[in-house]
Amino acid sequence: VLTACDKVNVKAVWGKVSGHVEDYGAETLERMFCVYPTTKTYFPHFDLHHGSAQIRCHGKKVLTALGEAVAHIDDFSSALSKLSDLHAKNLRVDPVNFKLLIHCFLVVVAIHHPGVLTPEVHVSVDKFLCAVASVLTSKYR
Ligand code: HEM
Repeated sequence: VLTACDKVNVKAVWGKVSGHVEDYGAETLERMFCVYPTTKTYFPHFDLHHGSAQIRCHGKKVLTALGEAVAHIDDFSSALSKLSDLHAKNLRVDPVNFKLLIHCFLVVVAIHHPGVLTPEVHVSVDKFLCAVASVLTSKYR
């Protein structure tokens, strides 16, 4: 459960991210594909080379969706309902992959904003992202 303090921390971090959704989204995906190559199996139809327009476009979509969740932080499961259907019913992404994406995103935030992810803030953002992932994987069965 996100505390009031977690929500404040998540919104503060999002304030740093929201102006860079395409860049940070692309960096997050590029890291995920490089460090955890099994994640590439979900994107056989993508050009996965460095600088790929598809990676940039998709990275922007993913971070924009996270921004929607931040904007509706008190009720993000309804805000993410359609995405939840998509990931569960069509894409069937194994839930372990969400941890990998979350980790890569946190690394990207830490690189661009050293000092922002104090241990307390890191916990809040991780809790939030895990809660989002659990919504996106909640309709699997
Ligand atoms: C599609 C968000 C995790 C694989 C999408 C879309 C969004 C999104 C916004 C586009 C939906 C549309 O076009 O209507 C998210 C968020 C995630 C997440 C917020 C986690 C917090 C993952 C993970 C994987 C994955 C971990 C696999 C490693 C895909 C694939 C598509 C997709 C394959 C379809 C891409 C395409 O063909 O355009 N996701 N996603 N997602 N996602 Fe996710």
